[in-house]
Amino acid sequence: MATLLAANWKMNPLTANEATRLARATLGAAQPHASRVEVVIFPPFTWLREVGAIVRGTVVGVGAQDCYWEETGAFAGAVSAGMLAGWCRWVIVGHSERRTLFGETDDQVSRKARAALDAGLNVIVCVGEREDQFDGGQTDEVVSAQVHRAMSRIDPAATNSRLAFAYEPLWAIGSGHNARPHEVLPTLELVRHVVNEVGGAGAAIDLRVLYGGSVNEENVTSYVGLPGCDGCLIGGCGAHKFVRTIDWPVRMLRQPIGFRRWIALMASTARSHWMRSRIHGATGALHSKESATARPSGRRSAAALVKQR
Ligand code: 13P
Repeated sequence: MATLLAANWKMNPLTANEATRLARATLGAAQPHASRVEVVIFPPFTWLREVGAIVRGTVVGVGAQDCYWEETGAFAGAVSAGMLAGWCRWVIVGHSERRTLFGETDDQVSRKARAALDAGLNVIVCVGEREDQFDGGQTDEVVSAQVHRAMSRIDPAATNSRLAFAYEPLWAIGSGHNARPHEVLPTLELVRHVVNEVGGAGAAIDLRVLYGGSVNEENVTSYVGLPGCDGCLIGGCGAHKFVRTIDWPVRMLRQPIGFRRWIALMASTARSHWMRSRIHGATGALHSKESATARPSGRRSAAALVKQR
């Protein structure tokens, strides 16, 4: 499966002209690398038409940043998954800015994901912990609970090739402080594990799991080179420097196979130390509050990590 680079433009840009310029530049950068990197742009609703017209029939996909689960009705301001299906192939649900600024709950995220899949869209579900939860060693508990709840209305056997999760720690979003790749990897594995747990063995076979949070043209290779990381969800850099960000992973994927194997080895060593206890700890914590609070933090504080960079 090609590496997925998804550009979440958020509430940018301000004008249709800028949106079309950005879409053309992205298309130009993506076309030569289409066999290795799948690029999807997520503009605001208002520019779906303009951006869609530019990328239609090309290697670049287009998606919306949110949807509502009801098909039609008295839901002022909402746009349904069914309405989007005519305009785009993808939708993001549960982005942390929706959760924190607009009070979106896990239950709503799961309704949105289900409605979007039923409408035939590909879905990226965002999950991630706050900084205090990271500092308190609660990442696994928080993320696995979010994935469990998001999956509660989804049949993974029927949809997993159209489903992706993006692990986006809240403290890494827009902060310039990306999470360390070797610390991201076990969380990506955890997401896969929970999807398999909910949907049965093999449920995650085609699932894509992405990292997001201050990804840029300099650090993107350290994520897409990891086995188990299927791509990145990119915010600020996606709107402004995405063209270079596409080029970098492509250069990385062209590295000799020995280099990639070395990365895989490093990653699997880290994984073998951590995964077993982390997965058991996280899924156990869903059923036992005590075990969650008793489990010691395996992580240093976000502030300390930031200082080291
Ligand atoms: P930044 O890349 O700006 O940190 O944003 C990440 C994000 O929220 C993508 O959805």
